[in-house]
Amino acid sequence: MAAVFAACATEPTLKEAYKNNFLIGVAVNTNQIFEHDQRGVPIIKSQFNSLSPENVLKWGPIHPHPGPDGYNFGPADRYVEFGESNHMTLVGHTLVWHSQTPQWVFLADDGTNTVDRDTLLQRMHDHIQTVVGRYRGRIKYWDVVNEALAEDGTLRKSRWLKIIGEDYIAKAFEYAHEADPNAVLRYNDFSLENPLKRNGAVELVKKLQAQGVPIHAVGLQCHAKLDWPTAEQESDTIDAFAKLGLKVAITELDIDTSASSQQNRSADISLNGQDQTNAVKPAAQLGINLNTNRLPDSVQQVLAQRYAELFGAFLKHRDAVTLVTFWGVTDGDSWLNRGRRNHPLLFDRNGQPKPAFDAVIKAAEEFHGSK
Ligand code: XIL
Repeated sequence: MAAVFAACATEPTLKEAYKNNFLIGVAVNTNQIFEHDQRGVPIIKSQFNSLSPENVLKWGPIHPHPGPDGYNFGPADRYVEFGESNHMTLVGHTLVWHSQTPQWVFLADDGTNTVDRDTLLQRMHDHIQTVVGRYRGRIKYWDVVNEALAEDGTLRKSRWLKIIGEDYIAKAFEYAHEADPNAVLRYNDFSLENPLKRNGAVELVKKLQAQGVPIHAVGLQCHAKLDWPTAEQESDTIDAFAKLGLKVAITELDIDTSASSQQNRSADISLNGQDQTNAVKPAAQLGINLNTNRLPDSVQQVLAQRYAELFGAFLKHRDAVTLVTFWGVTDGDSWLNRGRRNHPLLFDRNGQPKPAFDAVIKAAEEFHGSK
């Protein structure tokens, strides 16, 4: 309990430090939504003013079976009630995605053949109408389409694309707008900091805008690494979408500290020819073994520095950035603990604020002090 108390008693809180700039959100899991997580819930209530559902609003969890009786609204209803009772701005994540979507969605009624375009559009319409309609006026932001782009900026060859064709994206936005005309509708993706993919997203948004499609914001997932993206890359990315008249949200922020991920990232960066001269040195170059239960103090400092520089970029663009959401409460909650122990967030496994927490608070204080 002492750890929980320490985190709650931390002053100022994240939401307080950033109140003049943007909302500070966090993705919550089922244990937190149902308030079973005694460590996480007090942190959520004290530090954050916006919520995203880590899983409960995805197609699989909320609509596991076909037909009007195939919905499972319980956890999503509780998510919305939890957020409302704590006066938080709510995000809906996500309506149309290549992942966590049940097989039946893409199969004809015989259960074997692929569904045809009109039927899939009809299913998408019913799903969006039902889910967005149910929380109309209560969920403010919707990730309408998630991850529609491949790394080279072309459209990902998902079943949505193969079966419906390119206009599945426009249709999803139209259906969401019809279901809740006041909701802020986002296109959400990762690695948009890489120029090839970013350019693909810019072209996609321009095309949608030219067709009069109701798209209002872009979500940058920002699953960052210790050496990627640089503050400059982040800043340029926000700017690219702000210039199109869109709002920008940082939707799934975390910084992967595992050694294997740093190697992956280097490969990605060489792929798109990024200039790395200003980047933080990768862990391998720092001579640090990151596959450890406890994050070494030197890496805590690197992580803190990384968070500070990313928040510097968000603050610089505070006119466009409406919301910054962390993808998990404590390190123990993070989806990045897959086959390794990761330390990507601001609170450790005991719910204690890390040096990265102080760095994020300080970034806001310094920003305001300098003005
Ligand atoms: C992740 C969740 O955190 C995990 O619990 C789940 O098993 C898989 O999905 N991009 C997204 C998020 O848009 O929905 C993903 O969330 C992380 C990557």
